[in-house]
Amino acid sequence: MNRLDELRRRQRASEEGGGVERRERQHREGKLSARERVELLLDEGSFEETDKLVTHRCRDFGMDEQVIPGDGFITGYGLIHGRLAYVFAQDFTVFGGSLSETNAQKICKVMDLAMKNGAPVIGLNDSGGARIQEGVASLAGYADIFLRNTLASGVVPQISAILGPCAGGAVYSPAITDFVFMVDQTSYMFVTGPDVIKTVTHEDVTKERLGGSMTHNSVSGVGHFLAHDDTECIQMVRELMSFLPQNNRDEAPRRAADDSWDRADAALDTLVPAESNVPYDMKDVIRRVADDGYFFEVHEHFAKNLVVGFGRMDGRPIGIVGNQPAFLAGCLDIDSSIKGARFVRFCDAFNLPILTFEDVPGFLPGTAQEFGGIIRHGAKLLYAYAEATVPKITVITRKAYGGAYCVMGSKHLRTDVNFAWPTAEIAVMGAEGAVNIVYRRELQLNPESRGAKTAEFRERFANPFVAAERGFVDDVIEPRETRPRVIRALRMLENKVDTMPRKKHGNIPL
Ligand code: HXC
Repeated sequence: MNRLDELRRRQRASEEGGGVERRERQHREGKLSARERVELLLDEGSFEETDKLVTHRCRDFGMDEQVIPGDGFITGYGLIHGRLAYVFAQDFTVFGGSLSETNAQKICKVMDLAMKNGAPVIGLNDSGGARIQEGVASLAGYADIFLRNTLASGVVPQISAILGPCAGGAVYSPAITDFVFMVDQTSYMFVTGPDVIKTVTHEDVTKERLGGSMTHNSVSGVGHFLAHDDTECIQMVRELMSFLPQNNRDEAPRRAADDSWDRADAALDTLVPAESNVPYDMKDVIRRVADDGYFFEVHEHFAKNLVVGFGRMDGRPIGIVGNQPAFLAGCLDIDSSIKGARFVRFCDAFNLPILTFEDVPGFLPGTAQEFGGIIRHGAKLLYAYAEATVPKITVITRKAYGGAYCVMGSKHLRTDVNFAWPTAEIAVMGAEGAVNIVYRRELQLNPESRGAKTAEFRERFANPFVAAERGFVDDVIEPRETRPRVIRALRMLENKVDTMPRKKHGNIPL
């Protein structure tokens, strides 16, 4: 056989993977093949494959009889919206997408290239985990990847799509990456599976409930995005990329909006209900302010009392954080603090300005929260806002009470521009609670004075003007003017430079 024929034979074998039958099984289960996924992810015709002819080196357990070029991992680079991205995809049809020593080397090669060239890495995961026949060589490969995930964190965006199984220690690579996508019914992640759990703790649990997409999107917070099938998932990954810079020295790509920068929106003037305990949907506020009314939500199903996601203002991608009065009255709790902190830190790492909409009555009370460490977790959010040096803008729409006032991008955490709507209430606590404490003795003697005292407190503190008089908010603005005022602030902050003191790294209360 001449060399050209030999090359073509090997290339074909690599493309064939585990063969037609296994590929059909993949399709029957509602999953795409690894190659189909890569094709969908990258701009048409842009994929350059690396290590297509690499083979495993295992000679035990009859493995020398089963050598498939590429060894079941597709690696390489291509373009997403015309910009460079590195990719690896596990092919479940080859030894269940399991990680061999050589597969790990393939992944490390693209990760090293991504770091040197400053471009994102996207992993399409569908794997039975460590290649059992290779033992510790495979485990070593995972550890090599974990190290690179960690070194790349905050340098280039790292995205994981879970499109099948992802179990055991293998989950820790996606866990270190910035965003985890999961597909309903076909993807699952867990450290120990249902069988081991049954043996050790005698719990009966299905794969889906233990580590399915909804479990991780709504309960554990491991998953950031939920898709209905592979195609939707990959489209969502492409969309996310449109908001992100290539690396931590780059700016996110701007896109001309179909929306004038100075658009006023009269509906905002009446969006906050007059009664301060009546909820409204903070996503309405976000959509009315953002370019073209568009908000790309992250962690939609997790800790719904805080909303986070991406939008554009004046064509510029930004991160948006909002308390959600429509859920738990917008209180901060453990999950929402962690969710917010991680998002704020991502934005700060990748030069995305942070716009915060605040309506928070305080931290959620209760033993579950205190025993669970709300002190430590709430501090994460505070820490994240304080250390962020990107442009920061906060708009207080209604409540800014207690410690939560300090945490949610207050002026004191070096937020650049703080606005309040006239409906803002900024105080140590609600008027009723304040009166109970300050006038406890007097109320025992004269209970009828409660109404008047409460009204007096509300009149004095439940407004934005005390804070404005002190310069803690820069201006009280008409709600309808929010978009132009925020855009002007963003333009003003275009060249902002702020720093942290020299240190190896901080000690965020993990
Ligand atoms: C080698 C594997 C494999 C593995 C699956 N296969 N997992 N080969 N190493 N880890 C092979 C199977 O032999 C089979 O080959 C093919 O992949 C498809 O597997 P099935 O079992 O038929 O598929 P399915 O029924 O869909 O079940 C998928 C599965 C199951 C749930 C993932 O295969 C499974 O439990 N695999 C083992 C998972 C595991 O324990 N991995 C180690 C985890 S520990 P044929 O030739 O029949 O097609 C780990 C540590 C990482 O990963 C450590 C990091 C620090």
